[in-house]
Amino acid sequence: MAKAAIMGYGTVGSGVYEIIRMNADKLAASCGEEIELKYILDIRDFSDHPEKELFTKDVNDIINDPGISVVAEVMGGLHPAYEFTRDLLLAGKSVVTSNKELVATYGSELLEIARETGVNYLFEASVGGGIPVLRPLARCLAANNIKKIAGILNGTTNYILYQMITNDKSFASALKQAQANGYAERNPAADIEGHDACRKIAILASLAAGKSIDYTRISTEGITDITLEDVKHAEQLDSVIKLIGYAEFLENGRVYAHVAPMMINKHSMLAGVDDVFNAVLVNGDAVGDVMFYGPGAGKLPTASAVVADIIDAVEHYGKTRNIGWVKADEDLTADRDEKKFRYFVRADKDADIAVFGKVEEFKSLGDENVFMTGYMTAGEMDAVRSAVKTAIRILD
Ligand code: HSE
Repeated sequence: MAKAAIMGYGTVGSGVYEIIRMNADKLAASCGEEIELKYILDIRDFSDHPEKELFTKDVNDIINDPGISVVAEVMGGLHPAYEFTRDLLLAGKSVVTSNKELVATYGSELLEIARETGVNYLFEASVGGGIPVLRPLARCLAANNIKKIAGILNGTTNYILYQMITNDKSFASALKQAQANGYAERNPAADIEGHDACRKIAILASLAAGKSIDYTRISTEGITDITLEDVKHAEQLDSVIKLIGYAEFLENGRVYAHVAPMMINKHSMLAGVDDVFNAVLVNGDAVGDVMFYGPGAGKLPTASAVVADIIDAVEHYGKTRNIGWVKADEDLTADRDEKKFRYFVRADKDADIAVFGKVEEFKSLGDENVFMTGYMTAGEMDAVRSAVKTAIRILD
C-alpha cells in the first residue's frame, strides 16, 4: 500500500481526489499496489467534506510521516509551494505537480534534490494539462535531437480567441466563461499576457535541451493587442491567429524562444486546435513532425496527468526517472535577432514597403496596406514599427 497526500484542494486538487476515489482499482492495477490517500493539505476549512478527517493545515504532518511516499503539489504559486516541495524531496518523498510557475522557476534545483535523494519530481500536468507530452518528449523521442517546438500552450487564450471568432463573444465574457470553467489562472493576466505560455515553453525547451532555459529571457507577448480586424484579415489569407510558444534549437547550441500571437496557415496541424484544446508540435531530426493534442486545462484533464505521475512515482520509488534537466552553467537563450520570420503586416498607406523585403499577398484596403513581408529579424521590424499598425509573425 503506497501512501499519498495532496497539497491544495482547489480545482486540480479536488480533481486528483476525485480520480483517486473514482478509479482506485485501475490505479492499483497500474502501480501494482493500492494508493491510500492519507492527507489533504489546505488552509481553508473543509469540515463539511465527507472525508473531513483527511484534511490538515500543517505541512509537517506530511513531511514527518515516514509512511508517505508521494505528494501531489497542486497548490500553485511559488511560495510556500517551493519550500514545501524542497522539504518533501529532502525527506525522501516524491513530489508530482501541475505547478508550471514553480517548475519553470525552481525546476533545476528541485530536480537536483530529487536525484540526490533518489526520488522523483514529476510535472507532466504542468504543460498541456491532460495531454501526455513531457514524458513522450523526454522518453519516446529520446533518440532525436529536437529541432523545433511550436505549441498552443494556454487553454484560456485559445478558448477566448475561439469564442470571439466563432461565437462573436466579447473578450470579457469569454474570459469570464474560462474562469467559470476553471481554465484561467487566479490572475488572468498570466494567461492573456502570455506569461503562463512562457513558463510552459521554457519547460518544454529545458526538457528538450536537457539543460535549463531561463523563462525570464524569453520574449513574451499576449493576445491583448489582437483585434477582430486582424483575425478577419488572417482568414482572407487562409490563416488563423493563435498564441504560440515557440522554441528552435540552433546549430550553435543556443535556443531561440518566444511567446507571441502567430499567423498559421489553415493547412498546418496547429490551425485546427480550437476551444480549450492545446497542442504541441515537435520536430525531431529522426522522427520529423509529431503533434501532441488534447485538453490543455480543466479539473479532470489536469488531474489525470497528476495522478498518472503519482502512479509513476509509486512504481519507480527509489529510482529517479530521467525526465528533467540539469542547470545550465550559462544563459542558453539566443538573441532575438538570431532568428528571422516573415510577418503579416497592416501598414499605413504611405509607408515605404521596400523596407519589408519581398512582399507577398499585397492588398490596398482603405487607409492601409496589408501584406506578408520577407524574412526579417525582430530588430529590423522594430526599425520600421512607426509605420506598422499590426505585425504578426508567420509560423512556417
Ligand atoms: N491557465 C492555464 C491555461 C491552465 O489556461 O492553459 C492550465 O495550465
